[in-house]
Amino acid sequence: MSRRLKLAGAAFAALVVALGFVAVLAPKWLGMSSTPLAVNIGGPFKLRTHDGKVLSDRDLLGRPYAVFFGFTNCPDVCPTTMMELANAMETLGPDADKMSYLFVSVDPEQDTAEHLSVYVQNFDKRLVGLIGTAEEIADVARKFRVFYEKVKTKEGYTINHTATTYLMDRRGKFFGTISYQENPKTRIEKLRRLIASP
Ligand code: NI
Repeated sequence: MSRRLKLAGAAFAALVVALGFVAVLAPKWLGMSSTPLAVNIGGPFKLRTHDGKVLSDRDLLGRPYAVFFGFTNCPDVCPTTMMELANAMETLGPDADKMSYLFVSVDPEQDTAEHLSVYVQNFDKRLVGLIGTAEEIADVARKFRVFYEKVKTKEGYTINHTATTYLMDRRGKFFGTISYQENPKTRIEKLRRLIASP
């Protein structure tokens, strides 16, 4: 290898290292994140409600909402979350009517509209169950960064899923989250702030 080629090779290697630094390390040093920003949670969707209507993100504009992804056969996380949400709505009193509450089924195979209707109304009449095709559900889950995965059991299957409730403001923008079994006071405080948000 000639000296000139070696020099060119070394220069190229140095360039690769420098670019690698800029791409990988610099964002961290500057406090930037290479993962998508939280504000990108949400996006356009169009699903069907438990009473047969079409509901899109556009229909919700002007109204804040809480959205949770689960399935009616869920043994613990979903019923606990729905019960806690219903309790929060009761605590909020008339203010609870100033926002919407959505339960998106990640089990298009078994959760029919009728099934979902009975399920959500059992917790609170203001809860809206949403269904869609497997593709529509996968799309909306991706937009909310929700994970779900079917797992085989002896009886059939269960679905592991994200246990976070997402709060969206009246412009359809991400506002925050409520964690699974979050402290009731914090939960109410977050909902009050959401309702009061411009
Ligand atoms: Ni669940």
